[in-house]
Amino acid sequence: MPSPAPSAVPPGAAPLSDDLQAALARALAGHGVFTPDVPNGAATALLPILHHLQDEIGFVPPVVVPHIARALNLSRAEVHGVVTYYHHFRDAPAGRRVVQLCQAEACRACGGEALMAHASKALGCEPGATRADGGVTLEAAYCLGLCAIGPSAMVDGEPVARVTTTAIDAIARSLETR
Ligand code: FES
Repeated sequence: MPSPAPSAVPPGAAPLSDDLQAALARALAGHGVFTPDVPNGAATALLPILHHLQDEIGFVPPVVVPHIARALNLSRAEVHGVVTYYHHFRDAPAGRRVVQLCQAEACRACGGEALMAHASKALGCEPGATRADGGVTLEAAYCLGLCAIGPSAMVDGEPVARVTTTAIDAIARSLETR
């Protein structure tokens, strides 16, 4: 596989740290974009590149948006629109624990909404936010494929079925002992 070419800063964009520059270069190269300064029409690689970045560094920093846009010959608004459309992508690092509660129809029908309200109170952070001490991120998810055994959650990347307030309280207690 060819080495990714070093990239200049797009006009009006902020420069990237060395680590972020390297992570972006790996994400681009991993999906066939080897010359970030030369748009090559690889717009279909946008989602895989965003997934790659989030998998590697945990989030998609807003500062990379103009760099990705130029590499894929897209507008910054197009890249920003995709990043913000999908709940999966974060624009900031997650907390040490990540609790995602399904808020799609089947799980809402069996208490998913009330469970989110309980979790917000018990964990001390709003849905879509990370607690001030970085202990936990609480997020909504939209169908985790466990519809028949909801309400469902993903806790630290592990699927959990039939989530109860007791289980949420146990997570809250675990935060106090870390
Ligand atoms: S609706 Fe919640 S897992 Fe499908």
